[in-house]
Amino acid sequence: MQVEAPQPPPSPGNGANVPVHVAFIMDGNGRWAQKQGLPRLAGHEVGVNAIQGVLETLEPLGVKFVTIYAFSTENWGRPQDEVDGIMDIFSEALASQTKDLHAKNVRIVHVGRSENMGTELRESVAEAQRLTNGNTGITLNVAFDYGGRAEILEAVRSIIKDGLSPDAIDEELFSRYLFTAHSPDPDLIIRTGGEQRISNFLLWQSAYSEYFITPTLWPDLDSAELIQVLETFSNRRRRYGGLNPEDQPHDSQTSEG
Ligand code: IPE
Ligand code: IPE
Ligand code: MG
Repeated sequence: MQVEAPQPPPSPGNGANVPVHVAFIMDGNGRWAQKQGLPRLAGHEVGVNAIQGVLETLEPLGVKFVTIYAFSTENWGRPQDEVDGIMDIFSEALASQTKDLHAKNVRIVHVGRSENMGTELRESVAEAQRLTNGNTGITLNVAFDYGGRAEILEAVRSIIKDGLSPDAIDEELFSRYLFTAHSPDPDLIIRTGGEQRISNFLLWQSAYSEYFITPTLWPDLDSAELIQVLETFSNRRRRYGGLNPEDQPHDSQTSEG
């Protein structure tokens, strides 16, 4: 009997072996600042401003969705000064960059909880989403106050509130209850800063994502390295638990039934 590799869920194809969706754990801002003898917040500022460059590298390659992990549900546990500083940096970045991103046809989508952000930040996030909602270029998912576990619990609560029957709940439906309902699962997750862990990022969505961890600190990630990572990705063999036809034993390829 022919053994077939399970097919990945459908995603907008782009012909070449280019990831449709690249997600980043943008880690290392604090260490980058410390290395320069600067306060940690200086690293967050440079880090936020590096996002546009990443989009400029990925867009011409055919990447359609970029998710950046900007602030986790656990990051509230940092010293209050750092948390407050990060909130200010994000508010300012949204105010100064949204117009530019809109002009570049980028759709900005917040993925994460909104209720703990200050009013000002919450409103500018909502405004950025409204403004860019119809854009047809790259979708930039900003994971802010995002945690994979919180997201899954929120989905479970909503499913129960909606009164769905247990039989109606399958993977496709569950995915539609997540913050990332509008995006295909990430093909590639890149973590900067060298830590070999997931840190509560896209727990459900990353089931079959390819991982790439680089010791480069987020503010130092440049276009050349990013292109190299995508090249590495294009040579990976994704099997989704099955076997690629060329890896199957010879007799299973030739026998029928
Ligand atoms: C990542 O950089 C950004 C956030 C978590 C907000 P870090 O602040 O974690 O930087 P390091 O890991 O301390 O260098
Ligand atoms: C992950 O980085 C979260 C973000 C990049 C926003 P952390 O610095 O918070 O992760 P840990 O604490 O090293 O796992
Ligand atoms: Mg870190």
